[in-house]
Amino acid sequence: MKFFIDTANLEEIKEAAALGILDGVTTNPSLMAKVGVSGEENIRNHYKAICEIVDGDISAEVIATDYDGIIREGKELAALHPNIVVKVPMIKDGVKAIRWFTDNGIRTNCTLVFSAGQAILAAKAGATYLSPFIGRIDDINWDGMDLIAQIVHIYNVHGFDTQVLAASIRNPMHIVKCAEAGADVVTCPLSSIMGLFKHPLTDIGLAQFLADHKKANG
Ligand code: G3P
Repeated sequence: MKFFIDTANLEEIKEAAALGILDGVTTNPSLMAKVGVSGEENIRNHYKAICEIVDGDISAEVIATDYDGIIREGKELAALHPNIVVKVPMIKDGVKAIRWFTDNGIRTNCTLVFSAGQAILAAKAGATYLSPFIGRIDDINWDGMDLIAQIVHIYNVHGFDTQVLAASIRNPMHIVKCAEAGADVVTCPLSSIMGLFKHPLTDIGLAQFLADHKKANG
């Protein structure tokens, strides 16, 4: 399972990359706005800065929602760096654009996915990645993990190449459950990645080892 970080914050990206476990980065317009990056040129420079930090797939989202606009913007984003993956919303023109990108060698991440039916459409169009939003499904009292398991099953049964990129992850257990369900990728906030380290018995055990070493060695 690949680990992506879901942020546009360069310091967080550097911190995750320094762990040696990072395979890529996902961003979205909200995450860009959160770090105060605005304006077409600044946004594109920010993507380039991310590509300098992480040698892995970097999702850059289009703002256009019409077919011609998505194609134009996606081509420009893909030209920024070979590692850029064009993130396209799960809408009718988005799926049509994903088919065009697939046929023209541009990799895509189909985002804002909330159902298995949408997952089938994106896979049929040849999306490289599919981003179901687990946390937002949990937020409305449905089960996001059920959707991940259902999509993984469908893709396996039918041999679709599209990789399931579990998004909207809110805690470390989401990551563990995605691993169990067979997600290809998880994209997580830094806090969820850091949460994986935590176990009180590790802390207690380490403190005991160090105390015993000190007692024996002075
Ligand atoms: O990048 C898309 C997704 O991960 C957003 O997460 O927490 O805003 O639902 P969230």
